[in-house]
Amino acid sequence: MVDAGKLVKDLQVMRDEGHLSDALLRYAVRDIAASDERSSWVGVYLLNAEANELWLHNYVGSPIEHAKIPVGTGVCGRAVAEGSNLNVPDVSKEENYLACSPDVQSEMVVLIRAGSDIFGQIDLDSEDAAAFNDDDEAALQAIADKLAEQLASERR
Ligand code: SME
Repeated sequence: MVDAGKLVKDLQVMRDEGHLSDALLRYAVRDIAASDERSSWVGVYLLNAEANELWLHNYVGSPIEHAKIPVGTGVCGRAVAEGSNLNVPDVSKEENYLACSPDVQSEMVVLIRAGSDIFGQIDLDSEDAAAFNDDDEAALQAIADKLAEQLASERR
């Protein structure tokens, strides 16, 4: 799994240097993907509140068709609708699921949020069953929280 402590520090250094959320979101996705061999696909979706959709910001992995996902649809949209992170150990058992690749077996979604204000999410797919655990969620949440700080500061 990614060294979340180091990545959070790197992201803060980028913020101190004046980099904007675009750069931070890309750096985080690349770093997570490069350091986590369980993930076949890592991406960030941002919430477009007006459209009530998640819009794909950037990713590492095979191209996918789900560039926009309505809130409530799929694992990604459900996480936003429920306001909670989701760890899906077996996607074949998930009724509300949008398949990106037939090889994906498990998925984790961690929200990028400031309190009740949801900015988006980090989404990880794995070709291993039950690939992700609570430690991964905690690590990804620390990263997501740092990204949320920057996104919040740009909205003000
Ligand atoms: N599986 C997701 C769609 C996004 S892809 O995993 C990249 C879902 O059910 O919402």
